[in-house]
This record gives sequence, C-alpha cells and structure tokens, in this order.
Amino acid sequence: GTTTVVVIGAGVAGLTVANLLRRTGIDCVVLERHNRDHVERRQRAGVLDFAAEQVYVRAGLDDRLLAGAPASGSLEIRVDGVSRLFDAAAHTDGRAGRLLPQQVLVRRLIETFVDSGGDLRFDSADVRPHDIDGDRPYVTYLDANGHAQRLEADYVAGCDGFHGVSRSVVPPDALTTYRHAEDVGWFTVLTDSPPPKYPLLALSRHGFAAHFGRGPHASRFYLQCPPGDDLDAWTDERVWRQLRLRLADDTLPDGPVVEKAVIDARSFVVDPMSYGRLFLVGDAAHIVPPMGGKGMNLAIADADVLAHALHAAVRNGDDGPLRAYSATCLRRVWNDQEYSRWLSDMVFHGADQSTAGPFHWHLARSRLDRIFTSTNAARAFADLMAGTA
Ligand code: APR
Repeated sequence: GTTTVVVIGAGVAGLTVANLLRRTGIDCVVLERHNRDHVERRQRAGVLDFAAEQVYVRAGLDDRLLAGAPASGSLEIRVDGVSRLFDAAAHTDGRAGRLLPQQVLVRRLIETFVDSGGDLRFDSADVRPHDIDGDRPYVTYLDANGHAQRLEADYVAGCDGFHGVSRSVVPPDALTTYRHAEDVGWFTVLTDSPPPKYPLLALSRHGFAAHFGRGPHASRFYLQCPPGDDLDAWTDERVWRQLRLRLADDTLPDGPVVEKAVIDARSFVVDPMSYGRLFLVGDAAHIVPPMGGKGMNLAIADADVLAHALHAAVRNGDDGPLRAYSATCLRRVWNDQEYSRWLSDMVFHGADQSTAGPFHWHLARSRLDRIFTSTNAARAFADLMAGTA
C-alpha cells in the first residue's frame, strides 16, 4: 500500500498527529502494536496544560476532545500539615489548562479519527521503518492476521514511546542522547477513592506525597520512596497509613487500590528529533520527570509542530518547517525538562531532610516560600505550568 505519512504508535502523540493531518486532508495510516482495548485502558497523565489545550482549540477539536473537562486552575501545597492554595490561573491571566485523564483523551482521539474515516490498524506486529534516509521510505509489519505488509510513504512519524522501534533505526552516531537518573524513586497507586478538591502536593518529614484526581471517582497518588523500592512491601494497609501521615489528613477517605507500581523516573532527550524522513514525536524522543506533568503535553506540542510542518511540505512544497522541526521542539523540551527538574527537587528535597541533606532542604523550602511571597516568582511558576505557547 501507499500513503503520505505512516504514524507508528497510537498514544497521545501518534493520535494527535493523525487527527491534525486528517483535519487538513493529508493521508496517513496509524500502526499500533496493541489492541484497542489495551490502548484505551492505559492510565497515566491527567492534566492538559493550557498550551496543549490550545492545540486542540486551534484545530477545532476541543468540543469533541475536551467536553466536560474541568479547568485546572489551582494547586494545593501542604507543608508540614499547613495548606496554601496556589492560584495558577490568577497568575497567568486565566491560562488554566484542564483536568483530563489521559485514557479519556486517548479514547476520544481514537473515536474522532476513526469516525472521520481515519485508517488505524491495531495489532500490528514487528513494525519496522526502512530507507528513512532516502526519498521513498517504507514500513513493514505483520497485520492482525499475521500477514506481512508493506506501506510506502513520504514521511514516517515515530510516535511509539520510549521503548518503540523508531528511534532504534536511526544510526547511533547521528543522535546525541542526554540522560539523567532521578535520585528518588516513585511509588504510585491508582485507587477508586474520591479525588482531591485541587491537585495536592504534600511535603513533610515523612516524605513527599501527591494526590491527583482521575475523573470524579478515582485518584492517583505518588509517594516518594527509595529508587528501585520493593513493590511487595507496599501493602494496601501501609499505603493508606503512609498517605494519611504524609498528607497530614486522618480523614482521607480510602477505597480499593486498583494498581500499584514503583517507577524509576528518568530524564532523557535525543537530539536531533529527526533523521531523514523519520520524525520522532513525544516519548520516543524525550522523557521528563513525572512531577511537572509535562510528558503528555510535550507529546501534544511536538505533534502540533510536526503536523503543521508536514502540511507546509505536502501542500506548499515548503520543507523549511520540517527542517526546523527538531530545533523548534527541543527548545520547549529543554524548557520543560528544566521546569520538571526544578519542581521535583523542590518537593523531594523540601520534604524529608535526609533526601538531599539539611542544606538542600533549606534551599527547597526557600524556593517554595518564594512562590507564595513574590508575585514575580508566582507568575514564573504559573507560566511554566501553563506551558509555552
Ligand atoms: N510498533 C507499533 N506501535 C508501538 C511500537 C511498535 N514497535 N512500540 C510502541 N508502540 C505503541 C505503544 O503501544 C503505544 O500505544 O506506541 C504508543 C506510544 O504511546 P505512549 O507510550 O503513550 O507515548 P506518547 O504518545 O509519546 O506519550 C504521550 O503521555 O502520559 C504520557 O507517559 C506518557 O509521556 C507520555 C505521553
């Protein structure tokens, strides 16, 4: 077969590229390794920043994709049991963002794409791009029935996440990779229990913990733990006891624990985010620490840049935006990498003194205090939360 763009991966990145291309009538085929049910159930991020929201608004997709998603304007920061509300929207002239669980967004992106006649092929195995440095790349794969297929295209969008195949077909000496390992571990729990009134970050000598909503009846919690911590040691009883301690809230309502995981958070950037006719989008090109909530938003921002660049190339014969794709995206990636690092250090180092030592504990507490005492510092923080336009 033949198409204009092969999109590898149906996560937020690939589905956004595909929907944006579809809006402007550019042909594409999406190849996804897993089945639809698997893709639609994956739970991860939950906040769409203002910049990402605007991508869908500009494309006229906000009615379908964002319906009912409440504004995400404020953040509660609780230090040693004392709460302060950070009103991000007030410090950014209303650029608030939305609370939207990733799986809800993914489900709606799939539905929108398929309803508009989009070609999305689940259960595609052994996907592999070829000849990406030539004029006529192609992608081979096994379809859902196990038959070998070959798709020729003008461009390939590698949206297949950190462990995907796309990055691996680029000659290693054509890429510089940057890595940084997190000095703390993350224990995360998904529960069927009420969400907090506002996204909540809690710092205390018991360690850092965060509480985020995932829709009207579900919550995601994060607890700082030693890197590579033993998952089995986290019994449900210990989870709720630690949460009540760390959130300084004896009345925290509990509920069934649906999922538990210990995450080894990392930072990762590949430069450039393209090679020949292959363009890496989202997690395939970069990973940011989860604290800033920027992973999903960066994926959407990359997708927007790529869709516009492909449009310029395909419709107007202008390759300029495609050649600038990597540099355009990397400016935002490093900006959000820095923001995520800054926020992670502030909440982890400012929790228990033993995490980074008493000196860094004082620095972190001072950083945090500044957000509530300096309007300029508050605006800078809120601006980063909203995302760069
Ligand atoms: N062939 C086809 N599909 C693949 C392959 C492959 N070899 N490898 C991975 N995939 C698919 C995965 O099954 C997944 O559906 O690519 C998709 C990648 O999706 P994500 O991992 O969600 O990556 P991305 O879309 O860049 O992520 C968006 O949202 O919450 C965050 O952590 C998430 O930061 C990420 C962002």
